[in-house]
Amino acid sequence: MTIRFDNRVAIVTGAGNGLGRAHALLLASRGAKVVVNDPGGARDGRGGDHAAADKVVAEIKAAGGQAVSNYDSVADKAGARNIVQTAVDAFGTLDIVVNNAGILRDKSFPNMTMEDFDFVVQVHFLGTAYVTHAAWPILRQKAYGRVVVTSSNSGIYGNFGQANYAGAKLALVGFVNALRLEGAKYNIMVNALAPVAGTRMTEDLMTPEVLAKMKPEFVSPMVAYLCSEQCQHSGDIWAAGAGYFSRIEYREGPGVRLGPQATVDDVAANIEKIADLSTTVRYRTSSEEVQAVLGG
Ligand code: NAI
Repeated sequence: MTIRFDNRVAIVTGAGNGLGRAHALLLASRGAKVVVNDPGGARDGRGGDHAAADKVVAEIKAAGGQAVSNYDSVADKAGARNIVQTAVDAFGTLDIVVNNAGILRDKSFPNMTMEDFDFVVQVHFLGTAYVTHAAWPILRQKAYGRVVVTSSNSGIYGNFGQANYAGAKLALVGFVNALRLEGAKYNIMVNALAPVAGTRMTEDLMTPEVLAKMKPEFVSPMVAYLCSEQCQHSGDIWAAGAGYFSRIEYREGPGVRLGPQATVDDVAANIEKIADLSTTVRYRTSSEEVQAVLGG
């Protein structure tokens, strides 16, 4: 099977560096016309430099592909709309949105300012919502779309010093869960990626040997698959890094029916049974879970 993106138009946010750059290069090498979005700027989101996006566009064009730069911030509503408009103006439509832009403002929670909390949520969670919201009417109208959001094992499993980032990243899983249902009728597949890669975001956490095993381009095949016509999965979380690929999901244990009279002492006495996950179920909507709670 050869996966191609001929006649498909893709936006990759934060594509001037790291993972976004690798995703953009792979999509373009397989025929996609790509909007390379990146305002430039440092790892914490400060500053800006058009060279980040322009360099990647030049790389794509040098390899015979098609791409245009966009320098808007995903964290700005008008900017997000302009990213989508850039795709329409340059290539006439839009099929694929890879929400990848990200920043870090790590600190232990008591030392974290609420401004740094807000800004991380703004870029990761709201930025993804702004760009996807601007793109959605186009995808819905053409009854085709592939949307990827970039979550993180930090949100899924936890990481010290990242309450802002972890919260924003897991918010994206909720976002995907809802959009899976809304997009299904329109052939819009929405998935979350949990990548692991050596980039400027992680370079100070790893040795050069480990970084060499975790190149961003080792993650991109997963993203490209999720962006393909062949992909019929939606509402799932996919881990990728260092050549490893897997799926992550939430499951719920069998639970214990203590009855409506149950007291806090009953909960305490049964906590091990309540916590038991020896058998599990995957609910695909909140109402499925409510039915189970009601004993249906
Ligand atoms: P990176 O720092 O190399 O790339 C992030 C890019 O996003 C930068 O080029 C930056 O300029 C851009 N960006 C920042 N704010 C933006 C904004 N407001 N609008 C548009 N673009 C903006 O970092 P990396 O590692 O490539 O990160 C890519 C995504 O993957 C991020 O969402 C990150 O949180 C996520 N991630 C990365 C992991 C890793 O192991 N590298 C692990 C888990 C998640």
